[in-house]
Amino acid sequence: MDRQYWLSVYLLQWLVICVGSSPLSLVIHTSSKVGLPAVLPCTVTSQLERAQTPHIQWQTVQDSVFERMGEELFQGDAYRERADVPEAMLLMGNCSLFLQDVRFSDTGIYESYLVVGESSIQNRIFIQSVQLTVVDHKSIKSVEVGGDLILDLYTHQAQLVIFQDRNGTSWTVVWDRDGGKNNMGHLHNNRLIFRSVTARSAGMYKVMDSQGLALSTVKVSVTERVIPREPLVLESKAALGKGTMSIPFQKIIILFVAFLVLLLN
Ligand SMILES: *[C@@H]1O[C@H](CO)[C@@H](O)[C@H](O)[C@H]1NC(C)=O
Repeated sequence: MDRQYWLSVYLLQWLVICVGSSPLSLVIHTSSKVGLPAVLPCTVTSQLERAQTPHIQWQTVQDSVFERMGEELFQGDAYRERADVPEAMLLMGNCSLFLQDVRFSDTGIYESYLVVGESSIQNRIFIQSVQLTVVDHKSIKSVEVGGDLILDLYTHQAQLVIFQDRNGTSWTVVWDRDGGKNNMGHLHNNRLIFRSVTARSAGMYKVMDSQGLALSTVKVSVTERVIPREPLVLESKAALGKGTMSIPFQKIIILFVAFLVLLLN
């Protein structure tokens, strides 16, 4: 009796796990770095009637993301100016969702649907689930003393850049989008340029969004300036040039001289 009970509980659990996990295995996982574009894959060819522009919807659990009916389109508030399923691609059965300037808040499960039928009796056919993960940027940079340190902000979501030197435990703000004159960096094309780097510029830089989340972390090391010793470099280059170029010439001359000697003998 007891054993039977536990066996049935076990079987039930097993069944729940199987049924519960099978739809999950159909979810496509995709990962994108914050501020960059993401493509959420989707194909609709099998359900497509030719010569008819498909009516496609993308949504998350909470939100409408995007909808296209021919030339007409709808973008959800959180996705304004950022979401698209290009019409030309859709005609070929590619219903992939293009998301620009991806945000951490875009993380989640997206579902695409094909809408069929006339307006009064419309039906939705589920196509694809895509799990989007948005991750931050991490990199290492090395700059020479006196050179320029260039930090990519990636996106207009960037609000602050904070810095911690190699020994320090505290962070200081080196750039603020609203900071104006106090800023140390110089903004150009969504890149922050710090000119004439010194040894004290070495350390950790974090680009933060307005929520205080790190969009990017860059570990910067500053190297001694290698003073080029011009004449030596030129000399060695010249020697290298001579070395490689003159070997066949030398051989030809030696052969020619040998030939002459033979001829004269
Ligand atoms: C749909 O278009 C996207 C972007 O061009 C591409 O990455 C993807 O491979 C296409 N999918 C198919 C099934 O062709």
